[in-house]
Amino acid sequence: MSSNRICKLLNIRYPIIQAPMNWVSGPALVAAVSNAGGLGTLGPNAGSNDITHDVELTGERIRERIKTIRKLTEFPFGVNIVVGFGEDTKYSKKIVDVVIEEEVPVAVVSVGSPRVYTDKLKQAGIKVLHAVSTSVHAKKAQESGVDAVICEGYEAGGHKGLTELTTFAMTPMVADAVDIPVITGGGIADARGVLAAMALGADGVYMGSRFMVTLQSESHEAVKQAIVNGHDACTVSIPKGKMIARDLNNAFTKKYMELHESGASVETIIDYLESHSQYHSQHLGNAGEAEICCGQGAGLINEIPDAGVLLSSIVKDIASRFAELEKRLKDFF
Ligand SMILES: Cc1cc2nc3c(=O)[nH]c(=O)nc-3n(C[C@H](O)[C@H](O)[C@H](O)COP(=O)(O)O)c2cc1C
Repeated sequence: MSSNRICKLLNIRYPIIQAPMNWVSGPALVAAVSNAGGLGTLGPNAGSNDITHDVELTGERIRERIKTIRKLTEFPFGVNIVVGFGEDTKYSKKIVDVVIEEEVPVAVVSVGSPRVYTDKLKQAGIKVLHAVSTSVHAKKAQESGVDAVICEGYEAGGHKGLTELTTFAMTPMVADAVDIPVITGGGIADARGVLAAMALGADGVYMGSRFMVTLQSESHEAVKQAIVNGHDACTVSIPKGKMIARDLNNAFTKKYMELHESGASVETIIDYLESHSQYHSQHLGNAGEAEICCGQGAGLINEIPDAGVLLSSIVKDIASRFAELEKRLKDFF
């Protein structure tokens, strides 16, 4: 067993965590990553055909997927718990119950305070990884008893805090602030990103977008292709109330920003979001006009590989990238 702190904590071979993704990271992707030695994480809605607002059904769908994952892998895996705020916590409460009943090994907790569920999950013997966007959040998470923190940098696909701290700047701040293991993500798409993360003080990496564009992801083929076709600065960050979201730049992001900048009412913006959501892109395939959460690493994604082969090739590339780095450092002095 590796002496890496994340590998020891999670009982996995490589400290590579496939980040949870709404509508995208279903049982096949989770199992492929865990079977290849990383940690796969089940995301909300992945594998569903429709949106439900029924709390019981939300939980039972997660239970069914956990059972499917267990048929596909004997290795540890995680389930995402999006804490949420106010009324919305009714969904996460139910998912926490299911995760405990099903004895899931790891909870990847995001969008909310670490005080809400950490004790309950830990008492059930579940390892808790908590997503943060500043070193102050990371300290609070450590005080709440989480097992490891996950830095989500500004480059990351999806929703996060308003701070705009990049992976590059935040990772060493968090590594200095806490004693528990640090996982970092946002913009990591290959072995160079993994090496950089380790150099910044991380114990492990968190990769979403790169795993979205794989054979096992539930993402619609049109979405995978749109990301492969995206180059360079093909993502934008858009305001979403108390959060920001990083998305692939398309007709949705342009229209959304127009509405936002023209002072459209909150109701108009919510209506637009609901009728052009990730369900419409990731599930129905409207890659041009609906929202596609995606990180800045999209410009490094040029193919749609098998997720397990991808993970193995990233691990394999680390040695040659490290040799290049050593040479560059020798030349530096
Ligand atoms: C399509 C997509 C959907 C996402 N959905 C969720 C989610 O449901 N819950 C969550 O905690 N994070 C979600 N995220 C954020 C990821 O877990 C992670 O922070 C991010 O993908 C890391 O950055 P990267 O995409 O540059 O690798 C999502 C990201 C993407 C790309």
